[in-house]
Amino acid sequence: MASRYPAAWLDELRSRSDIVQIVSGYVALNKKGRNYWGLCPFHGEKTASFSVDGEHQLYYCFGCKAGGDVIHFMMDIERLSFPEAVEQLADRAHMTIPEMEKDEDYERRRTQRERLLNANREAARFYHETLFTPAGEASLAYLRRRGLSDSVIRKFGLGASPDSWSAMSDRLMEKGWKLDELVLAGLTVRKKNDDGKERYFDMFRNRAMFPIINTHGNVIAFGGRTLEKREPKYLNTSDTPVFNKRQGVYAANLLRQQRHLERVILVEGYMDVVSLTQFGVEGVCATLGTALTNEQARLLHRFAPQVYLGYDGDSAGQHAILRGLDILEQEGVPARVLDFPDGLDPDEFIRRDGIEGFRKLPAISPATYRLRRLKEQYDLSTQDGKLAYARAASGIIAAVDPVEREIHLKDLSLATGFTRETLLEQMNLTAARQSTGKTPARQPSRIRSAAAETGTSEDLKAQELLLSLFASGQIPKEMIDEKDFEDDELKSLYRELLAGASPASLPDLAPDEATRSRYTRILLSPAAGDTDQMITMANDCLNRIRRTKLEKRFEEISGMLDTAPPDTVPALLKEAQEISDKLKKLK
Ligand code: UTP
Ligand code: MN
Repeated sequence: MASRYPAAWLDELRSRSDIVQIVSGYVALNKKGRNYWGLCPFHGEKTASFSVDGEHQLYYCFGCKAGGDVIHFMMDIERLSFPEAVEQLADRAHMTIPEMEKDEDYERRRTQRERLLNANREAARFYHETLFTPAGEASLAYLRRRGLSDSVIRKFGLGASPDSWSAMSDRLMEKGWKLDELVLAGLTVRKKNDDGKERYFDMFRNRAMFPIINTHGNVIAFGGRTLEKREPKYLNTSDTPVFNKRQGVYAANLLRQQRHLERVILVEGYMDVVSLTQFGVEGVCATLGTALTNEQARLLHRFAPQVYLGYDGDSAGQHAILRGLDILEQEGVPARVLDFPDGLDPDEFIRRDGIEGFRKLPAISPATYRLRRLKEQYDLSTQDGKLAYARAASGIIAAVDPVEREIHLKDLSLATGFTRETLLEQMNLTAARQSTGKTPARQPSRIRSAAAETGTSEDLKAQELLLSLFASGQIPKEMIDEKDFEDDELKSLYRELLAGASPASLPDLAPDEATRSRYTRILLSPAAGDTDQMITMANDCLNRIRRTKLEKRFEEISGMLDTAPPDTVPALLKEAQEISDKLKKLK
């Protein structure tokens, strides 16, 4: 977030608002080692994974990955805007708010953002009010026919877009919004007629309206359901300056209000969220008309320690669950599956079997679910079918912990007739083959894509540790070169630190929540004790980083030698010799 306050003043504010003291006002903290620890106020947990780093003035939760500086902590815990949090802290520290630095570009973007958000809020109000007038009669009747109560309709702010070309746009323009803004917000569509004249019309017409509200309570987009059998069934706002469908979830605002959730339930449809909530299920949300993304998986993990996938019981839903499980696994989010029977979606199921039926539905483990789906692909009445199933299943079973493995081995043995011992042997074989990379297999991995681009994750870890050591200010500047950071984000953090920025000021530079979380984690003060230890660690990191880089280049050269034009070979050989000498020195 670009800031309107002078950087030096913000640093002063941070250092006068000691983060340990501020956080202590909300969380009971215990000193353990160099840091303070407590129960995370942003997600439900029983063991303390929330840490406050008094040295670098940062907080970070190892459970839900929330993190940042003291200003961000105030924003999150008190749900304040950036200027509001700054004002509160300044008040407390008896500092006067400085003259704002005029950053016109930032001002323009901020005002535009605010105007778009306000336009969305006004549109949501218009749709909601319309629902209870004659123009909204059809939508209201529809929602009631779907079994929704007035109180749940209010809770979600559901509405009706009237069967009119431009009733909403006209209302908002009367109130001062410009057509350009409404188009930018995705509320209004502008079109040129054949005669060259321009006209505009409401994006949503004659639909039941579901406002999409983010964690800060801002209306950022809409989904509109047709009342008839029209395509598309749901019309959604496309991406706008205030909305990215791959990043948010439906009902994020309610998740935020429900503290200490033990799990969130992710479903496919808006209607499923509303319906389950009406029946008293907590922590339900949905993606916004796309498959689950990595960003969303991380977001969900901030609300609860576990995510349940409760997609439709049809075949599309089943495929989406398998993909969703992979994404959650990549992000290290513990997951379970609610496998709705008879092809039902959650809404249909809870209406048929009630809340009791819903609560009885087992939350099954990812491996159980994967095996269930796998089993359907084989004909277990034949010997070939049994054999193929046993082979495929052992790949899944090999990846789970020994206790759960026992259960699956028993089931598999029953289904295929092979003994537990035979299956175990098969599993070892499969596991061995997987690790030598002969068969492509699902590799559960938490490694970010950045890791793939810059070498191994070990290498990336060394770069991260190096940066954290550098941020402590105890490493001689000359030791490190910008080229030691291959990861672009790390490189830019290094540059900022080199230019004198404080570690606590850096998470604010992140473009999104996930990156902010990463920056914070990296910038926490390193675990090493004194300066000497830190320098030793930095040297280890540098050795590893420089060695890996040289080894990579060496391999590149040996690959090139076969096909290189003869006149370039001597130079390549010379370079290879130099690398080999350097490597010897490093070892
Ligand atoms: P479904 O087709 O499963 O709808 O789409 P549903 O939630 O059961 O809706 P009802 O019960 O018929 O009203 C699930 C989700 O996929 C997205 C929407 O987010 C929807 O809630 N979707 C579906 C679209 O975005 N556009 C569509 O045309 C259909
Ligand atoms: Mn449905």
